[in-house]
Amino acid sequence: MGFLSPVCILFFFFGAQVYCQYETYQWDEDYGQESNEDYDPEFQFHQNAEYGIPFYQNTLGCASECFCPTNFPSSMYCDNRKLKTIPNIPMHVQQLYLQFNEIDSVTANSFINATHLKEINLSHNKIKSQKIDYGVFAKFSNLLQLHLEHNDLEEFPFPLPNSLERLLLGYNKISTLQTHAMDGLVHLTMLDLCHNHLHDSVFKEKNLAKMEKLMQLNLCHNRLESMPAGLPSSLMYLSLENNSISSIPDNYFDKLPKLHALRISHNKLQDISYDIFNLSSLIELNVGHNKLKKAFYVPRNLEHLYLENNEIENINVTMMCPSIDPLHHRHLTYLRVDQNKLKEPISSYIWFCFPHIHSIYYGEQRSTNGQIIQLKTQVFRRFQDDDDDDNGDDHDNDDNTPEGQEQEGTEQHLDPHYYEIQEWQDTR
Ligand SMILES: *[C@@H]1O[C@H](CO)[C@@H](O)[C@H](O)[C@H]1NC(C)=O
Ligand SMILES: *[C@@H]1O[C@H](CO)[C@@H](O)[C@H](O)[C@H]1NC(C)=O
Ligand SMILES: *[C@@H]1O[C@H](CO)[C@@H](O)[C@H](O)[C@H]1NC(C)=O
Ligand SMILES: *[C@@H]1O[C@H](CO)[C@@H](O)[C@H](O)[C@H]1NC(C)=O
Ligand SMILES: *[C@@H]1O[C@H](CO)[C@@H](O)[C@H](O)[C@H]1NC(C)=O
Repeated sequence: MGFLSPVCILFFFFGAQVYCQYETYQWDEDYGQESNEDYDPEFQFHQNAEYGIPFYQNTLGCASECFCPTNFPSSMYCDNRKLKTIPNIPMHVQQLYLQFNEIDSVTANSFINATHLKEINLSHNKIKSQKIDYGVFAKFSNLLQLHLEHNDLEEFPFPLPNSLERLLLGYNKISTLQTHAMDGLVHLTMLDLCHNHLHDSVFKEKNLAKMEKLMQLNLCHNRLESMPAGLPSSLMYLSLENNSISSIPDNYFDKLPKLHALRISHNKLQDISYDIFNLSSLIELNVGHNKLKKAFYVPRNLEHLYLENNEIENINVTMMCPSIDPLHHRHLTYLRVDQNKLKEPISSYIWFCFPHIHSIYYGEQRSTNGQIIQLKTQVFRRFQDDDDDDNGDDHDNDDNTPEGQEQEGTEQHLDPHYYEIQEWQDTR
């Protein structure tokens, strides 16, 4: 015992740290959304009694264009001010908020005294790659977070400091990457490159492989035609929606054993091998809006499966679930199959294979000649009272709805993002 406890504490500490980092991930981040900073100082710092002026403001300085709250002396807020240039940043500033301005360049001069920055938010500006002074970010050896989303970048910024943990570059025009631009970023846990102009060639050099701590990689809305090469095995969340990916190489996921969530909707997937998603950690899989014709093997831990808007005519439950192990139930709880070409509901054998399923969303189906058809049942739900928005609507059960299964069509929770909102965010 005596010699074990420090190990346990260490493990616990490490575990907690990882958990906390995971919690702050904005996996569900809506890119269009803007959140307002909370300026209201909730706890007033004791002001200098003799002079009646805020102590920190006075001694440490604040750029005249900006606001430095007395109770967060290391933060400087300069957002939403129509600024065209970055003000001079005082030495003590650690968190710098410059989002929502009209800044087009990042000049080394503004940062001449700033050496303690941990977080810079330059999102929603007009920054161009060639207007970033060479090395301006690299000198911040304590920098953890850099927000550059919603700018006019055309190239992956380089060089960046090795300390960086979160790098947000979404909504730019990035299409190129200098050869070793990503090499030093060994502490990165989250990289967001959604809504850029990336082609497959960018990943040919296996640039991401050295990011051994990378947990989340967002590459949605780019121009990829194949799965990115050389991803690090630490990856847990991978977003590839809205590209033009048409296939997944066999064994592609062998190198990603920790993958929890894979989003690859709005691509061109057609033929994938039967056991391609046999990944023991996978919990969420979204392959909606592709061209799949068949179901595939559903791994044991998968909880949410999105298959809507494909070309599936018939879901063979035996393929999804070739055997039943009564001691190790499969975890699937939600299945979405609307906008396929199903002619009848899935065989009821599915309830035995996946005893935790509580709803299957059939929605509308397309017939082979393109007509929209409705199956008799749009939603199968196993439980009647597990929902809080069920507030007593009358369900006329005169249409032979099978026992224990409800017919409903328009419930709020059938929103495609229902599970994301309800369950991913619950873990925060
Ligand atoms: C940097 O600090 C020095 C001394 O504290 C000060 O005189 C100078 O104006 C500062 N420069 C900038 C760009 O803030
Ligand atoms: C940075 O600005 C964005 C707005 O683009 C905002 O959503 C985000 O919360 C800010 N991040 C921090 C850490 O302040
Ligand atoms: C993908 O494209 C569809 C249709 O244009 C859009 O509704 C969806 O929000 C996009 N998803 C992402 C992650 O960009
Ligand atoms: C899934 O993977 C496990 C172990 O990795 C293996 O034992 C099993 O046979 C695989 N199942 C299928 C259907 O490929
Ligand atoms: C379902 O798949 C199993 C295994 O691949 C196969 O033996 C069976 O014939 C299929 N059933 C139908 C109705 O296609």
